[in-house]
Amino acid sequence: MTEEERYRLHTTASGHAFEEARRYLPGGDSRSTVFYPPYPAVLASGEGCRVTDLDGNRLLDFSGNHSVLVHGYRHPAIVAATRTQLDLGSCFSGPTEAQLRFARHLVERIPSLRRVRFTNSGTEAVMMALRAARRHTGRPLVAKLEGGYHGTADPVMGQDHPELVVLPADDAAEAVAVLERRASEIAAVVVEPVQGSAGMIPLEAGFFRALRDATRRLGIVYVFDEVVSLRLAYGGGEELLGIEPDMTCLGKVIGGGFPLGAFGGTEEIMALFDPSRGPPAVPHPGSYNANPVSLAAGLATMELLSREAIAALNRHGDQLREDIGATFRAAGVPATVTGMGSLFGIHLTGRPVRTVKDAAGGDARLRHRIFLGLYSEGVLVDPRGVGTVSTAIGEREIERFVEALRVVLGRVAD
Ligand SMILES: Cc1ncc(COP(=O)(O)O)c(C=O)c1O
Repeated sequence: MTEEERYRLHTTASGHAFEEARRYLPGGDSRSTVFYPPYPAVLASGEGCRVTDLDGNRLLDFSGNHSVLVHGYRHPAIVAATRTQLDLGSCFSGPTEAQLRFARHLVERIPSLRRVRFTNSGTEAVMMALRAARRHTGRPLVAKLEGGYHGTADPVMGQDHPELVVLPADDAAEAVAVLERRASEIAAVVVEPVQGSAGMIPLEAGFFRALRDATRRLGIVYVFDEVVSLRLAYGGGEELLGIEPDMTCLGKVIGGGFPLGAFGGTEEIMALFDPSRGPPAVPHPGSYNANPVSLAAGLATMELLSREAIAALNRHGDQLREDIGATFRAAGVPATVTGMGSLFGIHLTGRPVRTVKDAAGGDARLRHRIFLGLYSEGVLVDPRGVGTVSTAIGEREIERFVEALRVVLGRVAD
């Protein structure tokens, strides 16, 4: 039996739902990154580190909605905080105390964040930060790293927008040379401390430091996109790297499972949004901006994400990456495991993976067979072979993951 046949057998209700959904939604869904062939399973409910699909399969969840759910599903403290806010009202045409509380938490937590504003998604946070950088510098272009993903705003989506300059991720001297050549046009450099969508690939601290020095010298706004990396340390990737960016973008974990993004940075740049002294230089309207339900869930989430909780998460992540690597070696399947802290990426190549270019040569068909096989064995990861550890996951769940992987590799390895 192929892995696809096995998957179809386990997920017949999801298969029927997909056929019906595609009559109303192109591709049966609204989010291109969660599609995988033959059809994505419909997920019905979650509890802690387990998720149940439409067919009643219970899976161990090592995805956490693509790194959103750092405490798993329905953590009681997060549910309670959300209910309390729902009882007060779900949205208002004015500022809320929920916003003040969360803004204070984030500004006290993240050293470079002197002022912050809230959006509905990481995409919007990046969009607003880049708009501010353009206005601040009077320059039109933005630069990102090869393989960088920063949401779906036009200038940074893909690799070839006319307003975008793409820098090499493995050659600091060349990246700096490009910035020097085009400094008069470049408003911002946006980077991920760990390249999430590229496959959870951490880059060298020295590379980020070289960009910090160059952007400061050239008057370019240095933006850390911490939508994925915030969970790595109490103060996020900037604390790990020992670098203070000019602006920071947040998303995913900070909403505690509800739609939320945030961006912030220096007082000077963030003053562009201040409407209290006349019309703001950069307007920032939005009916759902700073939604208090998302903020209540997010604050409860971040309060649970203490230094101790992060240390335990990171230990589990280290253990998982090590065990995954050993399981591939024992099965004789070439693989390189990347990641950091509670993030992991599996690349089906025997070569070291230092950038997205190294990851590109992996065997995508085998990766997909392993993904479907893991699903049938009751383990959910992201179809791209990346995943995360939540605080709901312990050593027993890691052992279960590794055992499922061993079984699947036994089936797919020739
Ligand atoms: C690094 C990074 N930035 C921005 C985004 C966009 O966030 P959202 O999906 O909330 O729009 C993502 C989403 O995956 C991301 O990984």
